[in-house]
Amino acid sequence: MSTETERRVGNLLASSKEAVHADDSSCASSQGVKQSSPSVNIIKSESTLDADKAKEKFSVELKNRQEKMKASDGSKAMQSFREKLPAYKVKAEFLTAVSNNQVLVVSGETGCGKTTQLPQFILEEEISSLRGADCNIICTQPRRISAISVSARISSERGEALGETVGYQIRLESKRSTQTRLLFCTTGVLLRLLVQDPDLTSVTHLLVDEIHERGMNEDFLLIILRDLLPRRPDLRLILMSATINADMFSKYFGNAPTIHIPGLTFPVTDVFLEDLLEKTRYNIKSEFDNFQGNSRRRRRQPESKKDPLTELFEDVDIDSHYKKYSMHTRQSLEAWSVVQLDLGLVESTIEHICRHEGDGAILVFMTGWDEISKLLDKIKANSFLGNSSKFLVLPLHGSMPTINQREIFDRPPSNMRKIVLSTNIAESSITIDDVVYVIDCGKAKETSYDALNKLACLLPSWISKASAHQRRGRAGRVQPGVCYKLYPKIIHEAMPQYQLPEILRTPLQELCLHIKSLQLGTVSSFLAKALQPPDPLAVQNAIDLLKTIGALDDMEELSPLGRHLCTLPLDPNIGKMLLMGSIFQCLGPALTIASALAYRDPFVLPINRKEEADAAKRSFAGDSCSDHIALLKAFEAWKDARNKGRERAFCWDNFLSPMTLQMMEDMRNQFLDLLSDIGFVNKSLGSKAYNQYSDDLEMVCAILCAGLYPNVVQCKRRGKRTAFYTKEVGKVGIHPASVNAGVYLFPLPYMVYSEKVKTTSIYIRDSTNISDYALLLFGGNLNLSKTGEGIEMLGGYLHFSASKSVLELIKKLKGELNKLLQRKIEEPGLNIHA
Ligand code: CDP
Ligand code: MG
Repeated sequence: MSTETERRVGNLLASSKEAVHADDSSCASSQGVKQSSPSVNIIKSESTLDADKAKEKFSVELKNRQEKMKASDGSKAMQSFREKLPAYKVKAEFLTAVSNNQVLVVSGETGCGKTTQLPQFILEEEISSLRGADCNIICTQPRRISAISVSARISSERGEALGETVGYQIRLESKRSTQTRLLFCTTGVLLRLLVQDPDLTSVTHLLVDEIHERGMNEDFLLIILRDLLPRRPDLRLILMSATINADMFSKYFGNAPTIHIPGLTFPVTDVFLEDLLEKTRYNIKSEFDNFQGNSRRRRRQPESKKDPLTELFEDVDIDSHYKKYSMHTRQSLEAWSVVQLDLGLVESTIEHICRHEGDGAILVFMTGWDEISKLLDKIKANSFLGNSSKFLVLPLHGSMPTINQREIFDRPPSNMRKIVLSTNIAESSITIDDVVYVIDCGKAKETSYDALNKLACLLPSWISKASAHQRRGRAGRVQPGVCYKLYPKIIHEAMPQYQLPEILRTPLQELCLHIKSLQLGTVSSFLAKALQPPDPLAVQNAIDLLKTIGALDDMEELSPLGRHLCTLPLDPNIGKMLLMGSIFQCLGPALTIASALAYRDPFVLPINRKEEADAAKRSFAGDSCSDHIALLKAFEAWKDARNKGRERAFCWDNFLSPMTLQMMEDMRNQFLDLLSDIGFVNKSLGSKAYNQYSDDLEMVCAILCAGLYPNVVQCKRRGKRTAFYTKEVGKVGIHPASVNAGVYLFPLPYMVYSEKVKTTSIYIRDSTNISDYALLLFGGNLNLSKTGEGIEMLGGYLHFSASKSVLELIKKLKGELNKLLQRKIEEPGLNIHA
């Protein structure tokens, strides 16, 4: 039996149970393959026949359109561009492999055409074989920004508008139509599709991109897909990866065949920190000699000049850098991993390239948005590069709403040099063709999770050799390039081969909720099937946390709250804060605090002006004993100052980062959209409807407690001072940057906090002093102790001075809240504020 027939029979078997959704051409699906197959003879109803006719007609129309487009003059240049991409050489092999195998792994250097070409090859093939109406190709992307940019690119390669045959869908935003046959979506969107359609019956081809990144969502998806494939023999799964460890994925899918796309790159020279110092010393020396030789200027200059090297690296303490970097052992590598990137060194390297190297764009890999924005500010403010009209400096970051397509990808005007400041998004998701110089700081922000201490942190740490190789490869796209590594060779040698997959280094609570909402069985047995299963302790912590915040019941099943949290693509604690903020009509503060938690603190900590900065923060906090309230007030004041046109001065005077505040505002809007999407906010009622109690600071503290629980410490009086105790680690300290640092006594008995950090000892960051009422009403579960005098809280019984009847009342109120959440599931349109 030929493979094509096999596939059709597979389709027939898979779809014999299902009716044809003739009216739903947007998800014309696998079952359609059977219907249009002339070789299968089954009795059809009249309406099915009509639907078949319509489909046939549509398939012909798609084919005609495609052929007409290909023949047009406009497409010639694009066609020849595509044919030059390395992916084009494997086109025939790829298409045969797709039709002969259920799973295929394709690897190739970044930029070789995997993302833009492979899905397109399938699309073109399906359309030319008159299966256009029936095919539904989905390609997942780890990031929103690449889903948009790639679908736009393919549409323009096909000479179509975005949203015709090629579209995208990301959370809260999509461009697709009933004609769309190739859809780019984020992995998260596909995971949600799986809730409604566990067998992906509407999909014919699924491409999972960037699997080498080992993102949590992608690793999770692979477990689901491996279980799903036997139920969908007709589904085609294509895994795409940069040239990293493709064999591992092939093995995971029962030795699936692999295709490697050979690269088309130019040689790249590595310049390590030590070479860079040599190199710049040389260049400076020659410049210095020139300068010395220039007698006219020499007369005006004093004879003893600064050491030229010191001059170039004026802001950089090279000796200490060098000492730092030349420590030999692996431990020192880890110890230095928290050292922040030195912007001075980046600046100097950019300057060096601009002064001494030939044309070509510079791509700088930095650790995060804050550093990018700092460098951007610096370049804009005092333009260390001299004439700023000669430079086009562009930031590139995954959480940018959309990228300015043309500017990032196009060549700049001939007298300008493009400098792109990027996070690791440009490592493999986004290719900028004209890059000749890469500056690699060697670090990336990475979450790490310590399951034993339940500590999660996001810190810059050294990248892996594989990432360094990827970054380096970005320089040789159009001509031989140079990669400046701002670290010595010795560090490179000590880097781990691969980065630890995300699933092994992040808290798993959001993932656990996903597993529950997809009804994939017990969390631990499901996760044991992962490519690299997470630590059972990390899994248990996640489940415990979800039980503690009331998202899972004792049987590990979703509670009404848990069901709502599943619909929010957010950390469950942040999700709970937003839901409670919305229900209790105190949403504005919840949005602001959640956005800072999800992004970062807008207060900056200048080392040399620490006292002034502390005072500014304290003045926002007033007598609230709360960093969160300080944050709220600062955010409000910033909006006010911005409206009055004095944002810059305000931020400067108060040690606030305007970039972070702006990002927080964008995030707030996104959160609001999410809540409106799931019916917890009705925007048409106006913001008053959910902000009735937003000015009530006690209410704000209660909502904080709902979101931050079980991050609670008890304040115990020790003589004239207060000591703080947590359940897990005992005594902790208040972080020195907190408004609560140095306060001797607090009016209320508990403190909720955003996170614990471990430096010299364990500190709690951003804390708020709260009452026992807030904790009892908004903390976790509610179980009375056997004697009825206490409430189970923080793993023990919290004895509470109120009478039994008050406890009963609190319990009742919690019960009512639960009922409301349950009703909201049954009646999604229910107005929770009414
Ligand atoms: O996925 P992979 O890294 O293998 O490459 P790709 O994203 O398919 O890109 C292939 C080529 O298309 C790149 O080298 C760019 O030249 C070009 N491209 C572009 O010009 N604009 C885009 N938005 C995406 C790709
Ligand atoms: Mg790609």
